[in-house]
Amino acid sequence: MRPTTFLLAIATIAIILSGAGANTGGWQPIENVNSEHVREIAQFAVMAQDMSFRGSPLRLVSVVKGFHQYVAGINYKLIVSAAIIGGEGRRAKYYEAIVYENLSHVKELVSFRPLLTV
Ligand SMILES: *[C@@H]1O[C@H](CO)[C@@H](O)[C@H](O)[C@H]1NC(C)=O
Repeated sequence: MRPTTFLLAIATIAIILSGAGANTGGWQPIENVNSEHVREIAQFAVMAQDMSFRGSPLRLVSVVKGFHQYVAGINYKLIVSAAIIGGEGRRAKYYEAIVYENLSHVKELVSFRPLLTV
């Protein structure tokens, strides 16, 4: 590997690692993740994942962490804890939900994925 290639690889890894943190791409932390609106977005995500992604039916437990990004509308990235309804042990797991809300407040679930850790 040439030195420049090596440095580029290091820089790329650093960017990926810091991206796992938060603020890249204009994502700003949401201060109050317990607000009614954030909870409504999370509730929408949990319900929509059931229909759009055919996951197990989940029940929102709480919003653990959240980020928003102002585009033409708002992107929300929420870390939620949710439990499978009627699931064994009813233990909650963590998921990352991305919801887009347009300027008319129409919401769309962009992605919903389980997280191994928070
Ligand atoms: C928001 O999305 C809805 C449904 O797709 C659409 O009818 C509406 O025009 C959109 N609003 C804006 C401001 O883009």
